[in-house]
Amino acid sequence: MTTRINPSILAADWANLEHELDRIASADLVHVDVMDNHFVPNLTFGLQMVERLQEVSPIPLDVHLMIDDPDRWAPAYAEAGAFSVTFHAEAAGEPVSLARRLREIGARAGIALKPGTDATPYLDLLAEFDQVLVMTVEPGFGGQSFIPETMPKLRRVADAVRNAGLDVWLQVDGGITADTIGIAAEAGADTFVAGSAVFGGDVPADRIASLRDAASA
Ligand code: DX5
Ligand code: ZN
Repeated sequence: MTTRINPSILAADWANLEHELDRIASADLVHVDVMDNHFVPNLTFGLQMVERLQEVSPIPLDVHLMIDDPDRWAPAYAEAGAFSVTFHAEAAGEPVSLARRLREIGARAGIALKPGTDATPYLDLLAEFDQVLVMTVEPGFGGQSFIPETMPKLRRVADAVRNAGLDVWLQVDGGITADTIGIAAEAGADTFVAGSAVFGGDVPADRIASLRDAASA
């Protein structure tokens, strides 16, 4: 099975991001958390930062938009060259139109579900997306604990993807560590975001390797 490890730069040293990217050279993608202080009660950075990261990063960008009105703002992140752009189902007005627009621009389109959001309305729409992000914490902050109650939803999405014969990546984000990654992998995730578990160690590359091992154990 494919395992992708996407370190979140939310937990990196923002004054040395280019160096931080060097330290995670073995990552599959770099997870970039955009927060607007409206959709979530926290503020990070926006388009200008993502444009600059895109210029310097040898690793493709996996942009996670925790913002209101993604219908309006998300396409610009695809235009900036992000490999994938994931917006929240709870915030999108027309998720299918938005996903189509992102794909037209050339990005992979992702839809994210907060822990309390039911996946049912999206199970028949999976072909419209390249990835589904099942949040395993409430979005907004790094360093929170994995919520195991989200696993039945992940399983349902994984079953629907498999039954439809689709190649939709299943991402989990929040509280992913060497202790929890196996639970999410077993429930069907193939793409794992990890912030503190990667950058919390002295050698992030070792943390990435441990996560990879633990996901397939
Ligand atoms: C939380 C963000 C996550 C965050 C994860 O809202 O979407 O990507 O960086 O951090 P950890 O891995 O520390 O839970
Ligand atoms: Zn995220």
